[in-house]
Amino acid sequence: MRVIVKKGKIADLKSEALVIPHFEGKELLGISKLLDKKSGGLIKEIIARGDFEGKHLQVSVTYTRGALPAKRIVMVGFGKKADFTMEKLRGAYATAARQVRSLKLKEFSTSLDFVSIDQPLDQIAQAIVEGVSLGLYQFTPFKTVERDKIGEIKEFNIVEEKDESCITIRSTAKAAEIISNAVYFTRDMVSTPGNSMTPTGMAEEARKVAKRKNVVLKAFDESWMKKNGMNALLGVAQGSDEPARFIVLEYKGGEKDDPVIVLIGKAITFDSGGISLKPAEKMDEMKSDMAGGAAVMGAVMAAADLRLKVNAVALIPATENLPGGRAYKPGDVLKSLSGQTIEIISTDAEGRLTLADALTYAGRLKPVAIVDVATLTGACVIALGDNVIGMMGTDETLKQKIRNAADSTGERVWELPLWEDYHELIKSDIADYKNTGGRAGGAITAAAFLSKFVGKYPWVHLDIAGPAWLAKDKPYIPKGASGVGVRLLVQFLKDWQKKGKN
Ligand code: BES
Ligand code: MN
Ligand code: ZN
Repeated sequence: MRVIVKKGKIADLKSEALVIPHFEGKELLGISKLLDKKSGGLIKEIIARGDFEGKHLQVSVTYTRGALPAKRIVMVGFGKKADFTMEKLRGAYATAARQVRSLKLKEFSTSLDFVSIDQPLDQIAQAIVEGVSLGLYQFTPFKTVERDKIGEIKEFNIVEEKDESCITIRSTAKAAEIISNAVYFTRDMVSTPGNSMTPTGMAEEARKVAKRKNVVLKAFDESWMKKNGMNALLGVAQGSDEPARFIVLEYKGGEKDDPVIVLIGKAITFDSGGISLKPAEKMDEMKSDMAGGAAVMGAVMAAADLRLKVNAVALIPATENLPGGRAYKPGDVLKSLSGQTIEIISTDAEGRLTLADALTYAGRLKPVAIVDVATLTGACVIALGDNVIGMMGTDETLKQKIRNAADSTGERVWELPLWEDYHELIKSDIADYKNTGGRAGGAITAAAFLSKFVGKYPWVHLDIAGPAWLAKDKPYIPKGASGVGVRLLVQFLKDWQKKGKN
């Protein structure tokens, strides 16, 4: 989809459909006042009829029959004015765009002339473009039958009268397109089945990111891991014939001696549970167990395209978790890259093993911050639901930065405690640690385990097991792969470059 910012008057625009926002009640926003006048009262009539009230996400399509140059009016509800948020704005525009697509149209338009909202124009423009493009996502490469029935909007026009507003909207729309593009990249990787999106497949995707300026890729193989002692990662990889990869994607947008921010993403390209096999039901969804890895790759992609002035390194320890003849087993002890030993209680607690080695590797880069993103525990979904990211970490300042990014992107985080008590639960009788701490507080004991490999660097762990894969549509996230984490991390990096280290 192309986003085109046109200078002109919305009432004069020829378009298949004009999306017109409306708050609950009778009051017309700037944009609808103009259209109402020009059309001889069309908008007021739509509202007077009573079937469109402006409730959030409500839509109503009206044919203009020559009263306006545009062929259709698509009214979209913003809900109560007092309850309005940027999140609601994204959702409303996504819903309108999907309605337009369901009418088999290829093009539609809107205007941002509803200035009664208190937010700055650039934020509004970003939310609208992100809402529309994220809401229209569909994953179709494996569909071969009736491909012509797949609807696709090719053009989204934003009309604006003032020159300076056009400039603002153009530049933020561009940024929003870059970010949406990165979310698409991540969603595509997560949607792609495990037989295509193998660790090698992920390394190939990383190579696409590395075509950009200032991005460098290293994709280490198993012999490198062996030589370096990444035996926790190798332990997980052992049960699979598919070779593992340790992917390092560096983005150097900052000064040469600016310290790096390390982003680590869990990348189990299929998690069967291994010898501690998962139940069959919904096991197919475990192709999405690489969503953290895909998210950090998407974030590096967007950071490079936005030319953010930061140095960031993404670490993606990629492997399958399968119960092959050479698979690691409950009771085994692995010696991690850190030198610390881990007793395996469940081979289904594999993510934390791969992350342990990545965290140790991260420490060698002397980072200012480490953020890991992982579909780590079912327990986190039980604790918080599937709409929120579980956050745990060692550094207050870093946690606050993540909270700020969560507030502005709508990718919400909620903190769980990492108190000392939980650390007791992962002590092993025969090794340094064991890889599970029992059912109670499972999200927290997983994080307590990770903390043993962090060293002294500021660290935040984000458990995305809930929001990474959605069973039901959300307004601007179609069901399936959500791409969660990309917008959060990009915002975090953006804020970092603005405000510096504190
Ligand atoms: N990949 C899963 C966690 C998961 C569960 C992600 C549901 C998304 C949806 C992880 O590897 C896992 O299996 N965790 C176990 C840990 C347990 C064995 C301690 C879990 O949560 O049950
Ligand atoms: Mn598992
Ligand atoms: Zn897993």
